[in-house]
Amino acid sequence: MSKEIVVSGIRSTGYLHLGNYFGAIQNYIKMQENYNCYFFVADYHSLTTHPDPKDLKGNVFRVLAENIASGLDPEKVALYAQSDVPEIPELYLMLNMLAYKGELEKVPTFKEKVRLNPDNVNAGLLTYPVLMAADILIHKAVKVPVGKDQEQHLEMARNFAVRFNGRYGDFFPEPHVYRFSSDTVKIMSLDGEGKMSKSENVNATIYLSDADDLIKKKIMKAKTDSGPTEPNAEMPDYIKNLFVLMQMVSAPETTSHFRETYANCNVRYGDFKKQLAEDMVKFVAPIRDRAAELQQNEEYLRKILKMGAEKARESASKTIEGARKLIGINYY
Ligand code: TYM
Repeated sequence: MSKEIVVSGIRSTGYLHLGNYFGAIQNYIKMQENYNCYFFVADYHSLTTHPDPKDLKGNVFRVLAENIASGLDPEKVALYAQSDVPEIPELYLMLNMLAYKGELEKVPTFKEKVRLNPDNVNAGLLTYPVLMAADILIHKAVKVPVGKDQEQHLEMARNFAVRFNGRYGDFFPEPHVYRFSSDTVKIMSLDGEGKMSKSENVNATIYLSDADDLIKKKIMKAKTDSGPTEPNAEMPDYIKNLFVLMQMVSAPETTSHFRETYANCNVRYGDFKKQLAEDMVKFVAPIRDRAAELQQNEEYLRKILKMGAEKARESASKTIEGARKLIGINYY
């Protein structure tokens, strides 16, 4: 039986953090064995916020290195840069004719970007979900491992697929968010304000490139309170988030021990954070060190990109050929 197709991407707009790791990369690694996976660096998407051309290559290579250092095997998956697959912008153009201004303007991430950068409301920002749909549909993917913040974009990708099929004939399967546990992960920032992010909340976000001391410092400063006052009290979101992180990086007995102390109202946040910091350092350090090593080896990373682009273009060119035919671009 042929393997199901999986696609996911990460924008090259900054340093990867625990949200990217637990919301996405961890699932990529689990899926690489049993699925036909296409994972890419979304460098075209990063252009919506006008990065300095000098930074682009370094950002792309770092995302690549951090993915490999986390355990992604470029031999098992197609690992590539979005801009190396010209079939993606071609499909994006086709899908743009089926995307309506009104629906794009309603997307919460678009409204948020407009609020934050009122001077840079460019068309690429408006059609961001269309490019994302093209990324996914170009390989006819059915499963898309992403964090909670991308759910709305996936819904739009499904809409565009259905619309294309309705107009031109059955062609694209409907892609769905894929998750291993019942919830799609959302890792909050350690100050309890919003989510961990590549560009905001930097002092309360743990990056895969952070030094040991910095990780410890950020965790020791994480928001807590005076503790629960009744047994088995509901946890506030910022405490729940610390427990989610502990569950990801500490031994199960450690997490259950601290959960018990919370339930019994004798949790000592100082001890809890110290343990979490220690386990987090053990978790991040090998990834950080391996990623730094890989970034020294540009030749290797270039080879990976080339190999990934070849695999991706093989699948993408078939889809474009089929889409062109259905649309009627079929002259020779
Ligand atoms: P990006 O680059 O913002 O994030 C990459 C992945 O990390 C997840 N993520 C989080 N998960 C949990 N908690 C957080 N705090 C957190 N922050 C980020 C994201 O959900 C994502 O899975 N538009 C996408 C990139 C993209 C894409 C695609 C993804 C472009 N085309 C096609 C899937 C399929 C983005 O900006 O992700």
